[in-house]
Amino acid sequence: MRKDFLPFHKASIGEKEIGEVVDSLRSGWITAGPKTKKFEEEFTRRVGAEYGVAVNSCTAAMHLALAAIGIKEGDEVVVPVMTFTATAEVIAYFKATPIFVDCDPDTLLMDVGLLEKKITPKTKAIMPVHYGGQSCDVDAILEIARRHNLKVIWDAAHAFPTFYRGKNIGSFPDIVCFSFYATKTLATGEGGMAVTNNKEYADKMRVLSLHGMNRGAWNRYSKEGSWHYEIVAPGYKYNLTDIASSLGLVQLSRADELLEKRCRVAQCYSGAFGGRKEISPLAIMPYGQTAWHLFVVKLNLGKLIIDRARFIDELKKRNIGSSVHFIPLHLHLYWKETYGLKENDFPVASAVYRQIVSLPIFPDMSDKDVDDVITAVKEIIRLYGK
Ligand SMILES: Cc1ncc(COP(=O)(O)O)c(C=O)c1O
Repeated sequence: MRKDFLPFHKASIGEKEIGEVVDSLRSGWITAGPKTKKFEEEFTRRVGAEYGVAVNSCTAAMHLALAAIGIKEGDEVVVPVMTFTATAEVIAYFKATPIFVDCDPDTLLMDVGLLEKKITPKTKAIMPVHYGGQSCDVDAILEIARRHNLKVIWDAAHAFPTFYRGKNIGSFPDIVCFSFYATKTLATGEGGMAVTNNKEYADKMRVLSLHGMNRGAWNRYSKEGSWHYEIVAPGYKYNLTDIASSLGLVQLSRADELLEKRCRVAQCYSGAFGGRKEISPLAIMPYGQTAWHLFVVKLNLGKLIIDRARFIDELKKRNIGSSVHFIPLHLHLYWKETYGLKENDFPVASAVYRQIVSLPIFPDMSDKDVDDVITAVKEIIRLYGK
């Protein structure tokens, strides 16, 4: 058994990242400034979009995105039930109503077959999640949105870099929201970005991202800038700092390397865990390329004498960290009580929730780390398999 604890995730921060942060600190410009501008431009180009607004979280990006498309009190927005609370929470900010959809049992992506049944005359938008870094069926969702005249705000918190039929998921309409949270595939500690090909949306989001000012700090305090600004809306304080963007710029330059390393881990796990009766990795759809933010296995509880909680405890006993993505929203107190949701309203998510475990996957895992996870999982299966 390994001696030290292998965490579920550890950000890959090297000397380059450290050097770039120190450079920002030495420059004396530590809030949103030249590096945020550069990061915004480079990231936006990289994901194939025309405009990007860097903010301090994906939650902020999704909030601004819903504001940009004009969500109002009483509107309905369709979201998957198998997601993090942020996806639905931003809808509640507007006193609009999240309408939840169950997931596909093999991918945990929103079940597109159920989506259309949830659309009513009040529906204004769909917020699909590229769960775990795997792309949704973008064409199918855009087709439904087009038919019902709905906007699509993509929750791409897990999905850099993710491709759908060869195209980066950042290039699709209407607005795509990324996360640079500490555990994400590009990590700036906290951070996010909303990208779009629609200038009007981008302009709205930019103004709202900084108090509704018609110009940012960089425009006011740099030599080229001017002190004057106008408040044109009651906005938010969502700007991303240059310190965070320093990390973002370096991580972006390493995106291929970081992806390759996650792919290697995923390949080893897939090889070791595929074709077993006790556990199975999630299905990977042939239409896309996943970012491998998560590697989720489903426990076949009929073939094990332990439950998921015990499986996680057994991993921990062997010094292996893990996590669960996600406790579906209908099982959380707030969503359950506010919207009267029941367990059997979402039978797939309710069942699959009891089965899922996210194994460690991050670029700096050594071959031994990966082997240790595989050995621990195999041992647990051997000891507790039926
Ligand atoms: C699916 C999903 N959406 C949104 C978010 C929110 O991202 P952030 O922490 O950058 O606001 C997360 C965060 O973990 C997430 O997993």
